[in-house]
Amino acid sequence: MFQVTSHTQRELEMIRGNFKGKDIVSFDQFSTEDIDILFDVARQMKRIVINNEPSHILEGLLVSLLFYEPSSRTFGSFAAAVKRLGGQTLEILNPEMVSSVSKGETFEDTIRVFEAYSNAIVLRHKIPGAARLAAGVAEFLPVINAGDGNNEHPTQTLLDLYTLYEHFGRLDNLTGLLAGDALNSRTMHSLIRGLSLYKNNTLYVLSPQSLRLSREDMVTFQNRGIRIIEISREQDIPRDCHFWYWTRVQRERFRTQEAWQDAQKEIVIATPNLLDMYAGKDTILMDPLPRVESVDPAVDADERAVYLRSQIRNGVYTRMALLALVLGRL
Ligand code: NCD
Repeated sequence: MFQVTSHTQRELEMIRGNFKGKDIVSFDQFSTEDIDILFDVARQMKRIVINNEPSHILEGLLVSLLFYEPSSRTFGSFAAAVKRLGGQTLEILNPEMVSSVSKGETFEDTIRVFEAYSNAIVLRHKIPGAARLAAGVAEFLPVINAGDGNNEHPTQTLLDLYTLYEHFGRLDNLTGLLAGDALNSRTMHSLIRGLSLYKNNTLYVLSPQSLRLSREDMVTFQNRGIRIIEISREQDIPRDCHFWYWTRVQRERFRTQEAWQDAQKEIVIATPNLLDMYAGKDTILMDPLPRVESVDPAVDADERAVYLRSQIRNGVYTRMALLALVLGRL
């Protein structure tokens, strides 16, 4: 469909304490100081939401939500974030079906059009690198990556790190278990980047051989100093994890239904029994959701399961914070 060429690829700009006007494409743009700034704002945002306080922070601003792939939480929480702050959204779901994209309009032209209409573009796309391309095309407004293929999902990492921070009061010296589709899970890829910024974190990555991290990603991550230990059997799950992070097998990245089903058969599912056997009493269980044959609903009642509790709510607070910061309203 399109290629991200060096012509269209703008250098990724580090945030360096100043979010205003910046594209947010990769978690590589963040430093620990940037995360601290965002968390401070997210705490204020949480108060606004919990107290249902009317806010004018984004008043007069329009944010385009351009989602080329299905989404519930990311779309819903971005829309909620803009509206909680008094801004407005222009929502285009499935542009291939409902917009001029269906007539053959190029991706670049579509981005330019929505750039003309709004103050920021939140983009989800199935092609890795799409957000970076859009950021290169849009000259006058920030583009926020809401998930590009199996590459990255930086705003999910903001809420994942916020959730971890709320529970443990730190983001270093943590041991985590990341389970599922390590090859394709963009949330996992960005989370590893995020946790690599802090000292002494250890990540066990539990996946079948066919879904382990690509060797390229593995080298990239290990070069950052984070300890990654790949395992493929549940018996190898350590008992001292602070958190578990479960992901589904990303069906849409498989060529055939059979290939997906084969991979699915090899996956370890989080069940009450698995938690009894390997989780600690303070281990929290996270999942970016949707869970599709990845976490047994019987686990939901366990207080340690935070995915339907704090984790989804934190998506609204952190996205409110990010929007307010990149749109220069704080
Ligand atoms: C994730 C995604 O889209 O990558 N969902 C989300 O944004 N919360 C995870 C997934 O689809 O499995």
